[in-house]
Amino acid sequence: MEDKNQKKGKPIKRRDFLKGFGGGAMGAAVAPKFLVQEKKTISTKEGNIPVYSKKKISLIVNGKKHTLSVKPRDTLLDVLREKLNLTGPKRICNHGECGGCTVLLDAQPVYSCMFLAVRADGQKITTVEGLAKGGNLHSIQKAFIEKDGYQCGFCTSGFIMSSLALLQRNKKPNLEEIKQAFSGNLCRCGNYFKIYDAVSEAAKKMRGA
Ligand code: FES
Ligand code: FES
Repeated sequence: MEDKNQKKGKPIKRRDFLKGFGGGAMGAAVAPKFLVQEKKTISTKEGNIPVYSKKKISLIVNGKKHTLSVKPRDTLLDVLREKLNLTGPKRICNHGECGGCTVLLDAQPVYSCMFLAVRADGQKITTVEGLAKGGNLHSIQKAFIEKDGYQCGFCTSGFIMSSLALLQRNKKPNLEEIKQAFSGNLCRCGNYFKIYDAVSEAAKKMRGA
């Protein structure tokens, strides 16, 4: 789980993050740091609730800069899928459980469904769409195909992104290290052993072995 950290500030592991923060609590806890609060409030039975304005953010996604206006509650996954039409990151549980939405924030894998878009302002994001170059699949993608590392394929982009994070910091992972790197990813088809084979094969390809 050591590679499941958020990028800046105190590292937060993906599952530790969930233990410490519910989705709503997370929004409430971090929003004021990033958002400009408008003067107005909404009156409710529970009292006055502050209204936060939209914020303009910049994201460098797969090497291309995008400037966007986002709501306080928009997650990185919302923005990638719904504003940038990058549907590689999958919305499966939408709750920080499955890893289908995994993207890299710089070199760190994060659950984009649990990461507020405003927190990613100015940062580099890599999605599975950013891996192939010049029409050639990345070695990890080739290895998943060669080793049948998918069945329905719904979890695959998340596994590929976690694989990339692993292989960027460990060129020759053993089986335990591979399992550890996938501790935040679930495959409902139970294709784990073929996925592990695919990562070993991808590591060989990336080493040129
Ligand atoms: S969709 Fe994000 S963890 Fe499941
Ligand atoms: S291949 Fe179907 S969920 Fe993993």
